Amino acid sequence: MDYWSALEVYKEMFLLYVEEARRQVNSRCADLEPWQIIGAAVITTLGAVWVKGFLFQQESLLSRIKKRGFRLIRKIPFIGMAIQSQLNKALDDMSASLFTLKDGMSYTKELPLTGLSQSQVLEKIKEYKSLNEVQWEKGCVSGTVYWGDETLTKLLVKVYGDFAWSNPLHPDIFPGVRKMEAEVVRMACTLFHGGPNSCGTVTSGGTESILMACKAYRDMAYERGIKYPEILAPVSVHAAFDKAAHYFGMKLVHIPLDKKTMKVDVKAMKRAISKNTAMLVCSAPQFPHGIIDPIEEVAKLAVRYNVPLHVDACLGGFLIVFMAKAGYPLAPFDFRVKGVTSISADTHKYGYAPKGSSVILYSDKKYRHYQYYVAPDWQGGIYASPSVAGSRPGGIIAACWATMIYMGENRYVDATRKIISTARKIKTEIRKIKGVFVFGDPEVSVVAIGSDVFDIFRLSNALTSKGWNLNTLQFPSSIHICCTVLHTQPGVTDQFIRDVREQVAIIMKNPKEKTTGMGAIYGMAQSIPDRSMVTEVSRGFLDCLYSTEIKTNTSHMNGNGNAH
Ligand SMILES: *Cc1c(COP(=O)(O)O)cnc(C)c1O
Ligand SMILES: *[C@@H]1O[C@H](CO)[C@@H](O)[C@H](O)[C@H]1NC(C)=O
Repeated sequence: MDYWSALEVYKEMFLLYVEEARRQVNSRCADLEPWQIIGAAVITTLGAVWVKGFLFQQESLLSRIKKRGFRLIRKIPFIGMAIQSQLNKALDDMSASLFTLKDGMSYTKELPLTGLSQSQVLEKIKEYKSLNEVQWEKGCVSGTVYWGDETLTKLLVKVYGDFAWSNPLHPDIFPGVRKMEAEVVRMACTLFHGGPNSCGTVTSGGTESILMACKAYRDMAYERGIKYPEILAPVSVHAAFDKAAHYFGMKLVHIPLDKKTMKVDVKAMKRAISKNTAMLVCSAPQFPHGIIDPIEEVAKLAVRYNVPLHVDACLGGFLIVFMAKAGYPLAPFDFRVKGVTSISADTHKYGYAPKGSSVILYSDKKYRHYQYYVAPDWQGGIYASPSVAGSRPGGIIAACWATMIYMGENRYVDATRKIISTARKIKTEIRKIKGVFVFGDPEVSVVAIGSDVFDIFRLSNALTSKGWNLNTLQFPSSIHICCTVLHTQPGVTDQFIRDVREQVAIIMKNPKEKTTGMGAIYGMAQSIPDRSMVTEVSRGFLDCLYSTEIKTNTSHMNGNGNAH
């Protein structure tokens, strides 16, 4: 039997089945009235739409089932009460131990009836400054303050003063600030090798820069007819992308990392690309382990599937652009890589500008247009603003501009060389210590430490007791140090390495011992399957930030010091 006649046989059989199906349906519907048939069709269609809506939502089905499950568990009388009382206790303990004032201090809850004199205000300020306990100037804190040089501070205070009342929302009234903002953006574009069409805006910080990129690509996706735009980003990406997805009704699809290198798994990224993909994301470097994602490979996907690629260089942007000149070349990460359409970089981190400034850059003006917001019909006039804020602090933009001009390429390259050599030394020395390991091969300023032998949070506790203030990370448990100019001061790195070595040696004598204190809390927070509880406690923490109730120090009274 040849191919064609076989095909004929199949076709015959198929037609027979269709005919049979038709007969069956017609015979079953023979006794039904038309309204019944129409009604059944309508109900079936509505049902199918409901099922589709139920199955495919922003939040995955599994995650919704989990949430519902945990909510039900907390409704079970005794269990629910026990959980709630544990939570309340955790919240009480936290609020009692956080932000206790010194003896004799109180909160101001009302305006003074008569304003204070200038000298009285300055006197009062001393009290607030005296609350500082961590001496970050000495280089014991990871990240946080990236320089804080006194000469620079003096300059910035002067420049801020000169522009304190300015607002780029009114460029006609404050043309100087407009010029400064345009120049900050242009200088940054040049550093990241943007072409003549590259552009950007100054924002209030990394989070706003990221929000703006996601907003721009969401609106672009809407225009392409994508109803449910998705952000594809490595699991290591900054939480600001989760925030953006939450604010802008997008879905964040987390792409796993290669467990050895901690770089995003490019194959997994490729598999996740769908008709809903609004943007891809890489970090240069990411916050947890300080690793730069394989930008060139991901950019190839971006070009091939015609989706924008954002490079989050918020943390290390103002290091990586100087690394080649500082003697530490990197693989290309900026607009030189075809497919990279936007970059966020924080001037208020390694740009050494005061907090409240960052830049979001685009390879082409067409992307920036999607970032803008215009309300053409407002009674207050045609309202056009480039980013989230309306009025913006001109003084901060001026201070950012002044920092960049003061630093110049030479001071930036010097600072970069010092910071990178410090981080490389820490990486090399930590790798020699038995019992701990360094995640991947960090090339920039962050070194993350883990252990296969003991709970790394014990090391975190031990280093805290030695005066270090490091970052604790989760999934997997680890700690990291983010080196700043302050860590390049003489002796700081050696002391750090010595302390790690000594404390690891002590822990290794008894590697299986239980973790106590804060370390135990980090461990526990990771193991709670009901993440809504972690959220609840975290909200309690945020409430504490705004507390103006005097806390009595009860931590030594309840006989359970470990709880703090
Ligand atoms: C700091 C940081 C950001 C943005 O944080 P802000 O606190 O809003 O400035 C974004 N991405 C990475 C990798 C960061 O380290
Ligand atoms: C609170 O009490 C604990 C334990 O006695 C003590 O270590 C801590 O320094 C106290 N904190 C303040 C702010 O007084």
